[in-house]
Amino acid sequence: MEPAVLAFVLWIFGFLSVPAAGYPNGKVREACSSMMPSHGHSPQPSPEHTISVNETKFRPGNHIKVSLSGPVFEGFFIQARNAENLAGPAVGSFMLGEERISQLLTCGLVKNSAVSHTSKSKKTNVEAYWVAPTDVPEHVQFLATVVEKYKIFWVKIPGPIISQPNAPPLTTPTSITPESLPTSQPVFHLTTSFNASSCGITKFCIRNPPKCNPGAAYCFFLSFKQSNYSVLIEMSGPSEGYIAFALSHDQWMGDDDAYLCINEDHRININTAYLSGRTPPVLDSENGLEDLSWRVADGLLQCSFRRNLHLPAYKGRFNLDANYYIFLADGEASEGGLIHKHHRQPLITNGMYNVTDSPKDVGGSRSPLLLKLHASLMFVAWMTTVSIGVIVARFFKPVWPHSLFGKEIWFQVHRMLMLTTVLLTSIAFVLPFIYRGGWSEWAGFHPYLGCTVMALAIFQPLMAGFRPPPHSPRRQVFNWIHWSTGTTARILAVVTMFLGMDLPALNLPDPWDTYTMIGFVAWHVSIDILLEIHSYCLIRKVEVIDEDRIQILQSLTSAEAEGHTFKEIVLTIYICGNIAFLLTFLAAIHQL
Ligand code: HEM
Ligand SMILES: *[C@@H]1O[C@H](CO)[C@@H](O)[C@H](O)[C@H]1NC(C)=O
Ligand SMILES: *[C@@H]1O[C@H](CO)[C@@H](O)[C@H](O)[C@H]1NC(C)=O
Ligand SMILES: *[C@@H]1O[C@H](CO)[C@@H](O)[C@H](O)[C@H]1NC(C)=O
Ligand SMILES: *[C@@H]1O[C@H](CO)[C@@H](O)[C@H](O)[C@H]1NC(C)=O
Repeated sequence: MEPAVLAFVLWIFGFLSVPAAGYPNGKVREACSSMMPSHGHSPQPSPEHTISVNETKFRPGNHIKVSLSGPVFEGFFIQARNAENLAGPAVGSFMLGEERISQLLTCGLVKNSAVSHTSKSKKTNVEAYWVAPTDVPEHVQFLATVVEKYKIFWVKIPGPIISQPNAPPLTTPTSITPESLPTSQPVFHLTTSFNASSCGITKFCIRNPPKCNPGAAYCFFLSFKQSNYSVLIEMSGPSEGYIAFALSHDQWMGDDDAYLCINEDHRININTAYLSGRTPPVLDSENGLEDLSWRVADGLLQCSFRRNLHLPAYKGRFNLDANYYIFLADGEASEGGLIHKHHRQPLITNGMYNVTDSPKDVGGSRSPLLLKLHASLMFVAWMTTVSIGVIVARFFKPVWPHSLFGKEIWFQVHRMLMLTTVLLTSIAFVLPFIYRGGWSEWAGFHPYLGCTVMALAIFQPLMAGFRPPPHSPRRQVFNWIHWSTGTTARILAVVTMFLGMDLPALNLPDPWDTYTMIGFVAWHVSIDILLEIHSYCLIRKVEVIDEDRIQILQSLTSAEAEGHTFKEIVLTIYICGNIAFLLTFLAAIHQL
């Protein structure tokens, strides 16, 4: 899970690309239990289409011909269910009548237990054959969903009921309408926010920020409470769209068991998904979760459900009594329950935990420590030490010309700051490699630019070590190369930092980070220009005095002394501003 649950990406029901029909190819497995096309619209009342069968009695193994007909329609979805439990799973399997317009789907554990369209071509009649299984209920009812157009559809149109011979008459009256059908997820309303008082005592909790109160507007909360063979899971967090958690064997994407609470028009759907790789998750049609309940209030999504420790019948559900990294993600969802990629890096626990073992109360981080260190050291090096070092070399030669331990002071300061820059860069450089154990493949241009900056940063002091003596004719060449290499490195470093700040593994708040960085560059450039103009004026002044020839020596020194004080004041102000920018960035990194 690289930048972790990167795959809580767009769960697209396919309709974004082809807005005319929900599932133009009819692969509607997500709709297995609700039979809803998820078009983001409400179903129509009073159906116009009818389902008919060629027999009303059946025995296990019998074939029944099922037809759906009515006004022209584009999509359909047919299932047979136990007439006494219409909210239950599909029963029996189908064989196709006409393969061109229909296809078989597998709902739940029963192969070929539903039929749907293959394309949105217009049709008025479809046929299929239902095969009664051996463990068939006594009464079976056919249900169909018909999509006339994208926005016009009917859900769970009740069809005929067929019965086994000698079956007692059906007890429940079956005059169902789509509205009166029990939904596939009987959900309950939570009345209060979750309670963290037993975290670490009877339940395992993850909270972000640490120790926050799950009722608070900024608190992400996840808890696991085991009782016998089942675990009650509560999750809440501030989100308009969805909140989710995933169990993972590692800190990267792929092979993860995810649980999502998705806000759809102020109703929450609780779903599971198996994240197989870096592809968008496909929500499971059936998930083995029980006791679903939820609440949307005060900008907070809350959901809770129960699941067994082991769910071997459901593919992709992990056993809860093992060690996992746990991810907490949130993001936007749009109409129809589409999930968009989380815009923040998900929270990852700092280690692997067994949630059924001794209860703990842990936190997590949205960014790995090594990457935080990487960014912090790079900020110190390329915002502060390098900038001050360059200003000193450019403007303070005449100000600090005196020797200290055999070298001029400006030179000592410059060399010290620049070597610090190289040292910090070298240390910071290896950290992401240690963290990733290799090359960061999904980090865009940042690593490439970063390597260039590193190379230039090494080259610069090596070259300076072999510089020609002053007054040598080659000294001018050195000066030029030294200046241009340094300037290139600094410009590239700024670009690298801009790109680094938006990497998912260390995403500083947007757009704050960009503006602050622009602010820093503006601050630096203005000071640079100010000092440049000042130097220019000072030279002009000296020239003018020179021509005047009278009080030459006296004025020169007083003008220079004035200039030096000015430069020192500007440098002090610059350093204060620079450190203020640096500290805001370090604080922002610390908070991730
Ligand atoms: C000029 C300064 C910088 C240099 C030279 C630099 C260099 C690099 C290099 C070479 C890598 C790739 C390492 C690898 O492939 O494993 C890297 C990764 C990274 N850098 Fe920087 N970096 C700089 C500044 C920053 C800043 C300021 C930030 C954040 C605010 C940052 C955030 C990151 C992150 C998050 C990664 C890891 C990406 C991932 O694997 O997900 N870097 N950096
Ligand atoms: C109903 O259709 C099935 C499958 O084609 C067939 O086996 C059965 O004999 C038909 N029943 C009647 C009464 O036609
Ligand atoms: C949380 O639960 C504990 C014990 O179950 C109870 O004493 C406390 O009042 C509850 N707190 C809230 C805010 O509901
Ligand atoms: C757990 O099991 C024990 C005995 O096996 C039983 O008494 C208790 O009610 C069960 N608890 C729950 C919450 O089901
Ligand atoms: C997790 O904890 C449970 C309960 O203590 C224990 O039975 C199980 O073996 C543990 N699993 C691992 C992988 O340590």
